[in-house]
Amino acid sequence: MKLFALAKVTAAAVCAVSLTAPAAAQTIKIGFITVSSGLNASLGEYMEKGVRLYMKLHEKNLPPGVQIELIPRDTGGPNPDRAKQLAQELIVRDKVQLLTGVVFTPNALAIAPLVTEAKVPFVIMNAGTAVISTRSPYIARVSFTLWQSSLPMGTWAAKKFKTAYVAVSDFGPGHDAQEAFTKGYTDAGGKIVGSVRMPLQNPDFAPYMQRIKDAKPEALFVFIPAGKQATAIMKAFGELGLDKAGIKLIGPGDITTDDELPNMGDVPLGVLTVFHYSAAADRPANKAFVAAWKKEYGQKSNPNFLAVGGWDGMDAIYYAIREQRGKIDPDKTMELLRRYTNPNSPRGPIAIDPETRDIVQNEYLREVRKVGGQLANIEVETVATALKDPWKEIQKKK
Ligand code: PHB
Repeated sequence: MKLFALAKVTAAAVCAVSLTAPAAAQTIKIGFITVSSGLNASLGEYMEKGVRLYMKLHEKNLPPGVQIELIPRDTGGPNPDRAKQLAQELIVRDKVQLLTGVVFTPNALAIAPLVTEAKVPFVIMNAGTAVISTRSPYIARVSFTLWQSSLPMGTWAAKKFKTAYVAVSDFGPGHDAQEAFTKGYTDAGGKIVGSVRMPLQNPDFAPYMQRIKDAKPEALFVFIPAGKQATAIMKAFGELGLDKAGIKLIGPGDITTDDELPNMGDVPLGVLTVFHYSAAADRPANKAFVAAWKKEYGQKSNPNFLAVGGWDGMDAIYYAIREQRGKIDPDKTMELLRRYTNPNSPRGPIAIDPETRDIVQNEYLREVRKVGGQLANIEVETVATALKDPWKEIQKKK
C-alpha cells in the first residue's frame, strides 16, 4: 500500500516535471563491431576514427535531446563465432537499436541471421563480398563490393595488358575479386595465364611471387585485405623483382590503401588500381574531410576507405535518426536507409540502391604517384559512374 502511494506521488512529480522541462534526454545505443587487435587492427582503427570524427562534428545534427552511445566490440580479426557471440550480446543484453561496423566478410555473414531474427538494422561499413546484403533484409551496406572495383579493373586492364595472373586471399572478397576481374578481363579479350588463392592468416607471399614471376604475365592482379597485408605483399613483389621484370601490379584499392602508402617504400610507384576512395582526391568534400581528419588525428595521418566507410555510415545512420526524430523503428529505419543519398560524400556522390540495399557509387582508376615527396593514389579517370553492385545486376539477368 505504502509502495503504491509512493509510486503515485513519483508519477505525479514526473508529470509535473515533464510539463515544464524540455524533452527527456534519449540515448540511442549502437553496437559497433570492429577489429582493434591482432594483425588487422589498423583496419578497425581507421573505421572507428571515421565514425568518431563524424560524431564529434555532427552532434548538433541530432534531434534535440537525442544522444548516441557507441558500444565498440573487437572480434580480433576474421572470426565468425566471436562476431556472432558479440552481436548476440549487444542485441540481447545491451539492447542496441542498431548494429554497424564490421571489417570482415565472415563476421558480417555470421551476424546476418541474428539481425533478421531480432529486427535490428545493420549498417555495414566495410565487409565487401557481394552476397552479404542478400542474407538479411535488415542489412544496408555503405562500403563497396569487390565486384564494383574488380570488374571495371578487368575491362580496363584488357586494353593495356595481353596476359594477367590473378592472386587473391582465399576468402569471400578474394573469390569475388578473382571472379569479377577474370570476367571483365576475359570478356574484353585478355588472357589469364595463372591464378592462385593465398591463405588469409599470416601468409608468406614470397613463394607465390616467385611462381608468378616465372609465369611472366604482363600484369599481376592482387587482392589481399588492406592494412599490413598490403604492405607485406608489396614488399614481396619488390624484393623478388617482379617490378624490374616488367610485371605491372594492378588491383582494387585495397593493395595501395592510403594509410599504408608511407610504409611501402617506392615499390607502389606506378601501381594501378580501381577504387571508390582516395585521400588524394581533389573533390571539395574530400578536401574538407581530409582537413578535418588531419586536424583531429595529426598532419601526417591520412584517412583511407575504412575511414570513409565509417564516416558515410554514420551519415546514413544520423539521417535515419533525424527523420524519425530519435524514435527508432527497425522497419522505418530500413525504409529510410533504402532511400539514403549523399551527393557530397568525400568519395563523390553516393546512394543506397533501394532494391539491394547496397551502395551505388563511382569507381576511379588511380595511379600511385609521388606528390610533394609523398606517395598518393591519384585519380586519373572515372571508369564507372553511379555503379550498382555488378554481381547482383548479373544475377538479375540470369
Ligand atoms: C572483407 O572481409 O570483406 C574485406 C576485408 C578487407 C578488405 C576488403 C574486404 O580490404
